[in-house]
Amino acid sequence: MIPAMARTLLVNARIATMRAGRYSMIDDGAMVAEAGVVSWVGPRELAPTVKRGNDEVVDAKGALVTPGLIDCHTHLVYAGNRAREFEMRLSGATYEDIARAGGGILSTVQATRAASEQQLAREAGARLDAMIAEGVTTVEIKSGYGLDVESELKCLRVARGLARGRNVTITTTVLGAHAVPPEYKGRADEYVDLVCGTLIPRAAEGKLADAVDAFCEGIGFSPAQTRRVFDAARAHGLKIKLHADQLSNLNGAALAAEYGAVSADHLEHTDVAGVKRLKAAGTVAVLLPGAFYFLRETKLPPVVALRTEGVPMAIATDCNPGTSPSTSILTAMNMACTLFRLTPEEALAGVTTHAARALGLQDRGALEPGKRADFVIWDATEPAELAWTIAGRKPISVIPTPRG
Ligand code: NIG
Ligand code: FE
Repeated sequence: MIPAMARTLLVNARIATMRAGRYSMIDDGAMVAEAGVVSWVGPRELAPTVKRGNDEVVDAKGALVTPGLIDCHTHLVYAGNRAREFEMRLSGATYEDIARAGGGILSTVQATRAASEQQLAREAGARLDAMIAEGVTTVEIKSGYGLDVESELKCLRVARGLARGRNVTITTTVLGAHAVPPEYKGRADEYVDLVCGTLIPRAAEGKLADAVDAFCEGIGFSPAQTRRVFDAARAHGLKIKLHADQLSNLNGAALAAEYGAVSADHLEHTDVAGVKRLKAAGTVAVLLPGAFYFLRETKLPPVVALRTEGVPMAIATDCNPGTSPSTSILTAMNMACTLFRLTPEEALAGVTTHAARALGLQDRGALEPGKRADFVIWDATEPAELAWTIAGRKPISVIPTPRG
């Protein structure tokens, strides 16, 4: 590990800085980082410094360098698996049929409630390590498989604890409003009382959450219930995110925008009016092609409208057992291009600059002065190579921001 005050000099690098959400390439580039923060980046011949005493010199040997990747939407902490449900869907049942019959999210809830913190940390830790091995340095993790106060707090504690001993930043989101748990069946409003009156306050007091999310959907929570969850988030100073318009259009995008959400996620059924609201509010659209693929959805998110209106698009794995059992951010980039027709440049911005914004983090996502200097060296020359491959790519090395 590099001592906190040492400088890092990156030389001989093809740097996709991702400034302003574009490749913003520097073909023969150098970068200087001090105490983990970029102080200079530019063409090598203009580099302001020569090596000093204990500087760490990183020679990229002409390879591609990008900012550390950011997975801004995951449900990483869960127990069990949903392979049986996958089989049922292949025999004709739909995701919604299974959810309404008490399976789906609720079957993961059962397994997650029964699991110890150690077991959850071990299983989620393995998934997190797979992400880190692909160049991910920041991961958002939601609760949502506990659905009672203690189990939700348990999952948030596990999520926070995963950063220990790993060079990764974890942000956490309370997703108590993910499904109505069995003991509240038919009493969704009372469950929302619990989420707003106890869970969100306790998560906030315990500093276990950075944000609040909800599943606004026919099989989830109504817009009116979602508003109550957002009001509680606001009252406790937490950021707002939303699973919006994934399976139907309940005007979730507009609702997220109205509350100044940092992101609205999924958006397959969002209409142009919803897109315009996102733009006006500065809310990021998080696209989750893994879930679209795994549920064999056919309704595409409004990518052309998002692009035309200038709404920043982020991409994430949505890693979860029911709709996107994948830890691969690189495969998500490829799917964003093949399924949603994003350009490779948009896909890379989607896991760097725009993903940072989807988490409300201003200190990362591009390699430019003032931002964190965590970066990835790839066995690649062109940045489009990252989205081009479906699977199997690993970075040459990941240089995380030293912990001060
Ligand atoms: O992001 N849509 C709701 N939540 C998850 C799926 C959760 C599950 O099926 O376990 C999603 O797709
Ligand atoms: Fe999700």
